[in-house]
Amino acid sequence: MQEIKFYSGENIPLELHKVRIVQKLHLVPIERRLEALYEGGFNTFRLSTKDVFLDMLTDSGTNAMSDNQLAAMMQADDAYAGSQSFARLQQAVTDVLGKKYLLPVHQGRAAENIISVAYVHKGSLVPMNYHFTTAMAHITDKGGQIAELLYDEAYVVNSSHPFKGNMNIEKLEETIKYHGPKNIPFIRMEASTNLIGGQPFSVQNLRDVRAIADKYGIRLVLDCSLLGENAYLVLQREEEFKNSDMKTVIQTMTSLADLCYFSARKLSSSRGGGICTDSLEIFRELEAFVPLYEGFLTYGGMSVREVEAMAVGLYETLDETMISQSPTFIKYLVGELDKKGIPVIKPAGVLGVHVDAMQVCSHIPQTEYPAGSLAAALFLISGIRGMERGSISNQRDEYGNETYADMELLRLAVPRRVFTLSQIKYVEDRLTWLYDNRQLIGGLKFVYEPPVLRFFMGGLEPTNDWPQKLMAKFKEDFGESL
Ligand SMILES: Cc1ncc(COP(=O)(O)O)c(C=O)c1O
Repeated sequence: MQEIKFYSGENIPLELHKVRIVQKLHLVPIERRLEALYEGGFNTFRLSTKDVFLDMLTDSGTNAMSDNQLAAMMQADDAYAGSQSFARLQQAVTDVLGKKYLLPVHQGRAAENIISVAYVHKGSLVPMNYHFTTAMAHITDKGGQIAELLYDEAYVVNSSHPFKGNMNIEKLEETIKYHGPKNIPFIRMEASTNLIGGQPFSVQNLRDVRAIADKYGIRLVLDCSLLGENAYLVLQREEEFKNSDMKTVIQTMTSLADLCYFSARKLSSSRGGGICTDSLEIFRELEAFVPLYEGFLTYGGMSVREVEAMAVGLYETLDETMISQSPTFIKYLVGELDKKGIPVIKPAGVLGVHVDAMQVCSHIPQTEYPAGSLAAALFLISGIRGMERGSISNQRDEYGNETYADMELLRLAVPRRVFTLSQIKYVEDRLTWLYDNRQLIGGLKFVYEPPVLRFFMGGLEPTNDWPQKLMAKFKEDFGESL
């Protein structure tokens, strides 16, 4: 992609789109933000957007849509069966992802459910580069287990490794030999590995995984939810693809997998999801579960408007200008925070900026959830809503014991084409203040813990009156400013 240089020599990302539909935001006073935290059990998932200023919870379903996507939604063909909207989506999946058969589902986790129902049973083990919360929950729900097989470098915060999402090939082979290929229904590779900081894998690594899968006769499943971003970073970082293009990289990756699935809330900036494959056998194995769990095979639980937006969004994923917007903003913010000594995952990945709560809140033990505490503290002093990606997001083991996360991260998502640069500067400013006052942040404890995916609706409370002290310091430094 063509670089745009500033005369001043400053390295700032430039928006290559214009904003034509806007939504008013509200920055409520800090006293209200404190109340909102208590009402929401110190869990940012439970905040109402009327109290949130910059919503950096996730990019899922929050990426900006294009004018062409909105236009396509108006010409949706509403039919229970045989909808032309579905035909357009199927064509887009073939053109963009290079796969022949498509099973539509209402979102990514519905695909994970169907794949797990079909292939996972008690005693199954699914090796993967790293888990995603819902993928793991569906596998364990069906009696299976997972094995996370990243290289050690993946867990290094301050790293320059271009592909921290790579599967550890030696460990993969050892794991298969140890458990036996017949107990391994599939290997799962996740593009732009979400929970370790949006870190990509290389095409070469995927080829190596494919070779192992072939050697032992195991299916390879690719989670394509963040495939566009992974492909963009391949173009940036993998020598072989230096002069290539999005379509070539994407299809090189998808052609290596037996089965691809995606959350269209991420891939294609719309809603919904899908499972696609070139294998009629796999298609037949999964087909019956779509009407059972989702809806008829030509809408899969989605509205046809979403289906139309998804088709257009898939083609737009091939546009480097569009796909690079969020990663370049992330790179900018990571660079600015890093200059100030604030520990963030490096190299900059995709999806969002990931602040290392283990270091920022080194005075808070993992038993008191440093990443959850940091997320609550940042919301309190800024109205910015991030997401805890640490031990709260982990599930307990089969005996009910806590399993502490490898990394305690505060994720600040940067959905595509949503925030302006001054808003990103605000994030930088408030995070810097919080970092300078980090000793005032305290821990959290659960008061309500749901048995499954507890991070979504769980309720916590502070271990002491640290939120009040943090608010007092904010008011001392900022006076009447919001
Ligand atoms: C990598 C990955 N896989 C799967 C999912 C699940 O998708 P959905 O939220 O649409 O159910 C997500 C959602 O964030 C994701 O990031």
